[in-house]
Amino acid sequence: MFKGLLVLLPALLLAGFAPAAPARAADTGRLYLVGLGVGDRDNMTLRAQKIVAKADVVFAMKRMLKDYAEMLEGKDLYDAGHGLFASFGRRGGDSSALEAQARKVIRKAVAEGKTVAILDGGDPMIYGPHTGFLTEFADLNPEVVPGVSSFNAANAALLRGVASGKVSHSVILTAAFGVREGYTGKDTLAELGKTQSTMVFFTMGMNLPEVVEQLKRSYPADTPIAIVSYAGYRDKEQVLRATLDTILERSGGKLPFEHLIYVGDFLK
Ligand SMILES: C[S@@+](CC[C@H](N)C(=O)[O-])C[C@H]1O[C@@H](n2cnc3c(N)ncnc32)[C@H](O)[C@@H]1O
Repeated sequence: MFKGLLVLLPALLLAGFAPAAPARAADTGRLYLVGLGVGDRDNMTLRAQKIVAKADVVFAMKRMLKDYAEMLEGKDLYDAGHGLFASFGRRGGDSSALEAQARKVIRKAVAEGKTVAILDGGDPMIYGPHTGFLTEFADLNPEVVPGVSSFNAANAALLRGVASGKVSHSVILTAAFGVREGYTGKDTLAELGKTQSTMVFFTMGMNLPEVVEQLKRSYPADTPIAIVSYAGYRDKEQVLRATLDTILERSGGKLPFEHLIYVGDFLK
């Protein structure tokens, strides 16, 4: 088997593949975007724990700096805002000032051989607000530490294979931008719904009645739908099951920010 690998690796390199994280001298500074996972602390990977432990400088949303205060004691802490460097997410009023600060602090720290960690919840690469750091600091060869996404935790809560539908074996992750005013992307719900694949909504304040109305144009009205709230929190995780026809009535009041919506016959 090792022999096979030795033959395969040079072949991949010749074909244009390159190591995702270029080798570096042990004493140079490093920049990491770290996913801490969702929910309970034991969803945090060992790798994330190790990087956070060795970080000298940490950037994260203010709330996260507060929530993880005991893990971050003694480190230099900075506000990462809600989406700097034109990444996905809201841009707060003070984002230019935060960007200027981040440029100065990160470049200086890495040049001094320090470890800088940008922290995010869940997996940073799925609708995470901090991916803009990766392009802004591409020349520093940043590394991403994956985390347990709310998608992973909610899949577990549903106890069904998310790609095991009868009419489709595919999964679409979406934030339903198509229902927002002025959105010009091609991923409208009408287009996404054509294959009746499993659809998973990262909600972020999404307009549920509008989404349900649009889904009904592609999926039968008795298609199952589930709302998973607080995925990954053992004490407060909840699943609400309904169909496209009954979900609005059943979901009733206000849903927490932390909920995902699943649609598809895999739930049957
Ligand atoms: C900006 S996105 C970040 C997603 C994150 N990167 C991840 O991998 O889970 C925020 C959205 O993720 C979903 N979300 C985050 N945490 C959640 C949780 N614990 N349970 C269910 N959904 C969650 C919600 O739909 C929320 O509106």
